[in-house]
Amino acid sequence: MFEIKELKKEKYIDVIYKLETKIFTDPWTKKMIKGEFNNKLAVVLGIINKKTKELVGYSFLLNVYDEIHINNIAVKNSYRKKGLGQKLLDYIINYGKENYFSRITLEVRDSNKIALDLYYKNGFILISRRTGYYSNPKEDALILMKNLKENS
Ligand SMILES: CC(C)(COP(=O)(O)OP(=O)(O)OC[C@H]1O[C@@H](n2cnc3c(N)ncnc32)[C@H](O)[C@@H]1OP(=O)(O)O)[C@@H](O)C(=O)NCCC(=O)NCCS
Repeated sequence: MFEIKELKKEKYIDVIYKLETKIFTDPWTKKMIKGEFNNKLAVVLGIINKKTKELVGYSFLLNVYDEIHINNIAVKNSYRKKGLGQKLLDYIINYGKENYFSRITLEVRDSNKIALDLYYKNGFILISRRTGYYSNPKEDALILMKNLKENS
């Protein structure tokens, strides 16, 4: 019913931007999203509802040396709590292992308990804190990491 795939085409910029502005208080601009589609080190993943062809979730990844950095991961509000965030994260972890990356890192708002729950239960650990990293509202970022080289 849902398919996760790499999005290659800029036709997704508008729909991702629309979701960004609904989901985040500090959304990425269209220019930033476009930049991801043109960045050779970036991978844009989408969750597609196969029946309606609707994009219902997405993730921006950045491949840096032996590390995957998750820049963003989001599921459309009406599609949450159905296992799609987990499915997307499973895809990213498998992608990392299959392509011999050593670890996955990400930043998350200190108050984002839902996302933290998802990450911790998937073996991410807290490695540092960036004080006042986020704006609107100003908040610390927690830096999390998952090692892909150990059995986890
Ligand atoms: C984080 C997010 C992607 C999870 O997507 P989702 O499809 O709802 O997640 P799933 O249904 O796959 O749930 C996976 C796990 O996430 C956590 N979770 C999801 N919704 C939760 C909730 N309302 N309360 C607490 N934990 C929750 C749980 O650990 C859950 O596992 P469980 O079902 O076994 O309890 C989604 O909530 C989202 O898009 N949030 C806004 C964007 C965001 O904050 N992204 C993270 C930026 S770093």
